[in-house]
Amino acid sequence: MRQFPAFFNMHDASVVVFGGGEEARRKVRLLAATPARITVIVSQIDPGFAEEFAGRITIAPPDHAGPALDIARFAIVANRLDVNADKAITMARQYGVPLNVVDRPDLCDFTVPSIIDRGDVVAAIGTSGSAPVLAKSIREKLEALLPQRIGDLAALARRLRPDARTAIPDSKARRRFWERALTGPAADLAYAGDLEGAEAEMRAQLRPGAPVRGIVHLVGAGPGDPELLTLKALRLIQEADIVYYDRLVSDAIIALIRRDADRVPVGKSKGDHSVPQETIHEWLIASAREGKRVVRLKGGDPFIFGRGGEELEAVRAAGVDAQVVPGISSALGCAAAAGLPLTHRDHAQSLTFVTGHAKEGGVPDLDWTALARPAQTVVVFMGVGTSAAIAENIIRAGRAPSTPVAVIENGTRANEIRVYGTLSELPHLIQRAGIKGPALLVIGEVAGLPEEAIAHAFKEQVA
Ligand SMILES: C[S@@+](CC[C@H](N)C(=O)[O-])C[C@H]1O[C@@H](n2cnc3c(N)ncnc32)[C@H](O)[C@@H]1O
Repeated sequence: MRQFPAFFNMHDASVVVFGGGEEARRKVRLLAATPARITVIVSQIDPGFAEEFAGRITIAPPDHAGPALDIARFAIVANRLDVNADKAITMARQYGVPLNVVDRPDLCDFTVPSIIDRGDVVAAIGTSGSAPVLAKSIREKLEALLPQRIGDLAALARRLRPDARTAIPDSKARRRFWERALTGPAADLAYAGDLEGAEAEMRAQLRPGAPVRGIVHLVGAGPGDPELLTLKALRLIQEADIVYYDRLVSDAIIALIRRDADRVPVGKSKGDHSVPQETIHEWLIASAREGKRVVRLKGGDPFIFGRGGEELEAVRAAGVDAQVVPGISSALGCAAAAGLPLTHRDHAQSLTFVTGHAKEGGVPDLDWTALARPAQTVVVFMGVGTSAAIAENIIRAGRAPSTPVAVIENGTRANEIRVYGTLSELPHLIQRAGIKGPALLVIGEVAGLPEEAIAHAFKEQVA
């Protein structure tokens, strides 16, 4: 370690920046996020500089640098190309002020790291001045891992620290309290923006003998490709104590679950509800009541044909905290993978999602007249087994038999299959390709737009 990381306390601090150009401006932008008083020493200043930091900086000419340096916690020389740079460096040294010279690590007492600013939580990445671009790329990766509101959580912890010290005098017990508070339900509430709830939860946990509370997250796992998970979904999957997952969640996503977490498959494919819905509700509630962080992982989006609504209702009715994390619905994921725009100004002004599977099995009672209207796209979920009846009903209600259709099985996964044709041939397309599902039926002119669809139509014409 050639450099030792440390954080300057900026409360009641003064800092000096030499320079009025772009480099100085970048440094002042960083400093302006702190409470420090900032003096900018310039002989020349770029237009707009003073206005950008109006009320936040004091601008002074070089012959006023002495008094500013006298009280400065540190100084930054950011006028590299300016003839005054050498003078600024000499002066700062005379005053014994720690010094950073932009792009000259050899002249620096300290370097300014790449920073992630989440309020009270600040992450700094340094490369000892050898590769700032590398620091930037590491920062980008870390950005994705740090919840946006982690700074709010830290600020809440700072406020509660004195109360925690009084309520739990034993330091080991207090550390256990903080571990729970900063990773458990209180943290989840803070990350969801409910700071009052988070504070109430932390205070409740400070009471002697307080029961440990769990939480249920209904998380959308997307259509299969793990790269289509949201950042929040990934974080929750990796933090969960127990994960209940559907058959539709891909193996690649299951592999992301923490190794020591319990994994419980709850089946739920069409017509094969291996664990009854009520039992799933009971298990979710029981696990949360044991104080666990429960993730209920569902294919696509939990609120699109996913029974997420029922689960949310049941869990909340039992007095257990529950939150929902949206996922990329298979309709969106499959369409994107196929290059098939679900709406298009020339072809489809509306988009309808329907289920092809009635609650008690068979063909659902849909509004076929509405589904047959032109200039719309209809996406049918769970419609493989009923495709013949669906095509027949929509054609009978007036949609042209030649309307393009696409059938996408296992969309976004390695074993994805896509077939194209017309509405009248829909069941044959499915049969010929041996499609069993999970698959989506996309009905409408947009299904004829992908290059594959055009190539297919051309081949059919020639044959
Ligand atoms: C119970 S629904 C769940 C839908 C899910 N909540 C969503 O937003 O995608 C199951 C149906 O979603 C569709 N589906 C889910 N994942 C799919 C995938 N990777 N490729 C094609 N269709 C998929 C199929 O129609 C499947 O029968």
